[in-house]
Amino acid sequence: MSGRIAHRGLRSKVVSAAQAAAHIRPGDNVGMSGFTGAGHPKAVPRALADMLSEHRARGEDFRIGVWTGASTAPELDGALAEADGIELRLPYQSDPVSRAKINAGTMEYIDVHLSHVAQMAWEGFLGRLDVALVEVAGITEEGDLVPSTSVGNNKTWIDLADKVILEVNTRQPLELDGMHDIYYGTALPPNRRPLMITRPDDRIGVPHFACPPDKVVAIVETDAPDRHTLFKPIDEDSRAIAGHLIDFLELEVKAGRMPADLLPLQSGVGNIANAVLAGLGDTRHRGLTAYTEVLQDGMLDLLESGTLRFASATAFSLSPAGAAHFNENIGSFQGRVLLRSQEISNHPEVIRRLGVIATNGMIEADIYGNINSTHVMGSAIQNGIGGSGDFARNAYVSAFVTPSTAKGGALSCIVPMVSHVDHTEHDVGVVITEQGLADLRGLAPRRRAQRIIDQCAHPDYRPMLQDYFDRAVSGAWGRQTPHLLGEALSWHTRFMETGTMRLP
Ligand code: COA
Repeated sequence: MSGRIAHRGLRSKVVSAAQAAAHIRPGDNVGMSGFTGAGHPKAVPRALADMLSEHRARGEDFRIGVWTGASTAPELDGALAEADGIELRLPYQSDPVSRAKINAGTMEYIDVHLSHVAQMAWEGFLGRLDVALVEVAGITEEGDLVPSTSVGNNKTWIDLADKVILEVNTRQPLELDGMHDIYYGTALPPNRRPLMITRPDDRIGVPHFACPPDKVVAIVETDAPDRHTLFKPIDEDSRAIAGHLIDFLELEVKAGRMPADLLPLQSGVGNIANAVLAGLGDTRHRGLTAYTEVLQDGMLDLLESGTLRFASATAFSLSPAGAAHFNENIGSFQGRVLLRSQEISNHPEVIRRLGVIATNGMIEADIYGNINSTHVMGSAIQNGIGGSGDFARNAYVSAFVTPSTAKGGALSCIVPMVSHVDHTEHDVGVVITEQGLADLRGLAPRRRAQRIIDQCAHPDYRPMLQDYFDRAVSGAWGRQTPHLLGEALSWHTRFMETGTMRLP
C-alpha cells in the first residue's frame, strides 16, 4: 500500500479496479471526477468498460449515466463509449469516440453551463446519483480527501451519491495539498448567501473534501498520469489574434476603463486561448490575476514570469511538458494557484463582481455577433459549451476568438447567420480573428455587422459577406437585424455541397 491512505479504517477498503467496478449496476448514474483531462479516475472506468463488454457478450444490456466535471480522457470517456456503455453523458466532453456516438445518435448528451451542473443535480433534474467515482491525491487520518488536479463537481458527487469509490493516485504530487478551496456553503434558493469572493485569491472554504468513511465502498490505488494533450505550435494567426486582444486591453487602460494591472483574466480551452496567454507574456504587464476555469500551459508561464500574480481555477489542463515542469517546480506555485469547485470558479455572481476579461474560442460568429461554440454545420457537436456561457454572460468584457477561416480556408468562420447559437449578440462584446478586432459594445445591429465584416472577415469572404449584408439591408422584412433567411443558412449547406464538410 502506498502510504497515501492515512485513515486506518479506509485502508481495509483497498481492492482491485475490477472489484471496485462491480459496485456499479446497470442503469446507475455515476458522478466521476475529471476536468479537461485532469484528475479523472484512471483504472475503474477501464475495468467497468470490460465488465460492460462481458455483459453485452452475454446479451445483457448494461449502460450507465456518466456525469463529470468536464472532458476526461481515452481511458474514461473513450473506453466507456467504445464499449457502448454510456446511456447519457453530461456536461462538456471532447472525446472523439464519444463525439462520434453522440453525432450518430446512439449516446444522449446534455450540454450544460458548467456552473449549473451541481445545482441541477441537487434540484433532482438529472435523477438519482448512485455512485461517485473520484480520484484523490490522498486520504487524511480523519478520513478527509485531498483533492487531485481538478475539483470540478467532486464535492457535489461525494455529497449526493449513495456510494463512493475512490482512486488514490500516487502520481499526483502530495504538494497539491493546500492548493484547493472547497466551499461547503452552497444552497438552493431561497437559502443562498452571497459568495464572499472579492479578489481572485480570496479563500472561502476548506482544503479537503469531507466524506463519511462508511459511504466509501471501495478504494483503488493508481499511479497514472493525467491526459496531458499537446498544444499545437503557436502559429501566425494565433499570434495576430493575441496581438489584437493585447492592443485592445491597452486602449481600455488608456480610456480609464481598466486599471494598469487589468481586471482578472479568464481564458478558455483550446490552442488559440493558450496562444493568447503566451502573447500576454510579452507585454509590460506584471502582477495580473486570473479568475478562470482551467490553467493551461500559457497560464503557468505567466505565473512564472511574474506577469500573473495569482490564478484561481477549477482544474489544470497541461501538456506533457507543462505537467512535468509544474510537478518539478510545484513549490513555486504554492500560494499562487487555487482550485475551486466549478460552481464557484464559474459563478456568475463572482465573475460579474470581479469584472473578468473573458476570452473564449468559437466555431463561428455571425455578422451580428451571435456565437456558435459547439456545433459544426448546426447539428454535429464538436465539444460542448463548457464554461464559456458562464463567463461570456457575466464578464466585464466578453471576447470570442477564432481564425477567420477553417479547413484550410475552405470555410469562413464569419457567416451571415450562425448555424447554432450558444452566445447571443447580447452577451458578446468583442470578436477577434487574425484579421482584426471588432469592438461591438454600444453598437446597434447594423453597425455591428459592418464592423465585423470590415475587421474580422477574411478578404476572400469579405466581398460575399458585404454583398449579402447590403442586399439584406435593402430587401429584408425589417431593418433592425436585416436577414435574407433562406440565403443566410445556405452558406452552411454550400460548405457541405463543396465537400468541405462531411457529416459523421
Ligand atoms: N466550421 C467547421 N469546423 C470548424 C470551424 C467552422 N467554422 N471552425 C473550427 N472548426 C473545426 C476545426 O477545423 C477543428 O476540426 P478538427 O479537430 O477536425 O481539425 C475543430 O473545429 C477545432 O478547431 P481548432 O481550430 O483546433 O480550435 P480550438 O482548439 O481553438 O477550439 C473550440 C475551438 C470552439 C472547439 C473550443 O474553443 C471549444 O470547445 N469551445 C467551447 C467550450 C469553451 O469555450 N470552453 C471554455 C470555457 S472556460
